Amino acid sequence: MAARGWPRIKEILDGALEDWEKANGRRPAIEVSHEGALRWETKEQLAQSRPFDLQLIEPDKVGAGRAEETNLIKILRRNVGGFRRMPSRGPYLSDDEIKEIADWIDAGMPD
Ligand code: HEM
Repeated sequence: MAARGWPRIKEILDGALEDWEKANGRRPAIEVSHEGALRWETKEQLAQSRPFDLQLIEPDKVGAGRAEETNLIKILRRNVGGFRRMPSRGPYLSDDEIKEIADWIDAGMPD
């Protein structure tokens, strides 16, 4: 299936926080937990997100069949360095949702 655009990716990421809130009984403190360096109100904000010096989507890995190597896709699947899999302690995104994000990165992050 052709990759869908940014609105669908935002929907998946926003959904992850809604599911986290339902499971944990409080809003996730995204700003504080990531020192203000994780945002996705716009595609550009996601592209510039760099929590703890780990750029989420390294530009040289966009549209190059290398989405699985990006920090975003890696940390949605497993621990990265000293950081646990995200969203922290789950619930995690489904494999299908993670693949949708990876396909979108491989497609060049279309609007
Ligand atoms: C390089 C990428 C990322 C790094 C290094 C990172 C790191 C961290 C750290 C250090 C914490 C606080 C400690 C903990 O609860 O484990 C945290 C919390 C959290 N992160 Fe991430 N994170 C990343 C990406 C993401 C993404 C993409 C999401 C959502 C899709 C996410 C969702 C969360 C949530 C929900 C929490 C818990 C917040 C709370 O307790 O209120 N993180 N993250």
